[in-house]
Amino acid sequence: MSRAAIQVEPTAQAPGAVAIRGVRKGFAGRSRKSAGRLALDGFDLDVRAGEFLCLLGPSGCGKSTLLNMLAGFSAADAGEISVDGEQVRGPGPERGVLFQTPMLFPWLTTLDNVLYGPKARGAERGAARAEAQELLRVVGLESSSESYPHELSGGMRHRAAFARVLVNRPRLLLMDEPFGALDAITRVAMQRFLLQLWERDRMTVVFVTHDVEEAVLLGDRICVMSGTPGRTRAVFDVDLPRPRELELTDTVEFAHLKRQVREALEGSH
Ligand SMILES: Nc1ncnc2c1ncn2[C@@H]1O[C@H](COP(=O)(O)OP(=O)(O)OP(=O)(O)O)[C@@H](O)[C@H]1O
Ligand SMILES: [Mg+2]
Repeated sequence: MSRAAIQVEPTAQAPGAVAIRGVRKGFAGRSRKSAGRLALDGFDLDVRAGEFLCLLGPSGCGKSTLLNMLAGFSAADAGEISVDGEQVRGPGPERGVLFQTPMLFPWLTTLDNVLYGPKARGAERGAARAEAQELLRVVGLESSSESYPHELSGGMRHRAAFARVLVNRPRLLLMDEPFGALDAITRVAMQRFLLQLWERDRMTVVFVTHDVEEAVLLGDRICVMSGTPGRTRAVFDVDLPRPRELELTDTVEFAHLKRQVREALEGSH
């Protein structure tokens, strides 16, 4: 990862505001015991335009289910999900999604993976290529642009997938434990990169994590969920100064909030 400043032009897109109202989502179980299990029921959440919201909650409380619906990969059984007042009906390039397992096409090089979105929407070739190369430089993959995904390490694949999402300049960035599988050093570098990028573009971010410290370091607000079905248990405002650096984690204020969030999370199990 490069520590150099990001040189990609800031996005002109206004950030996306999310409204989730009374959402219910169930899954038909295979066994009688799991039949008709509700992952979410009567779930409400607003995310302000340009806000960095972190979602924490026990395993199985419906975080990924919620993100999949926001991404438009699946539909709610009841309730409404809208971005900037428009109901989500399917996937769209203005909503970028990053999962724990990086999504890359194995038959495309790193650069062509990043260029996939711009090509699909017919973006001007030269400009898209320059931007993709710049993003690869920023995520430290400049010298791997012609490599295929199987030739990259796990952390490198993550960074490539990140560049692939960012090249579309999403208004809303949906991240499902994106750094969970990374080693500690790469993870810190990715967190710093994400914060830098968010400071510059102020796109809306919904970030799922199991790591309380990560949530406090990154978020404007933290929503702690409990399940099942998934509900909001507590919401915390992270009133800590920005821009945030790792040193913030050593402060008393940080430790205090981290403890409050951890206690809410422990109570949600
Ligand atoms: N495709 C599916 N088919 C059946 N059940 C599902 C499906 N997807 C999710 N579920 C169920 O919905 C509930 C919520 O799952 P979800 O993956 O959203 O949890 P999560 O909060 O993301 O958990 P984790 O922290 O472990 O990732 C669980 O009970 C899960 O078994
Ligand atoms: Mg999940």
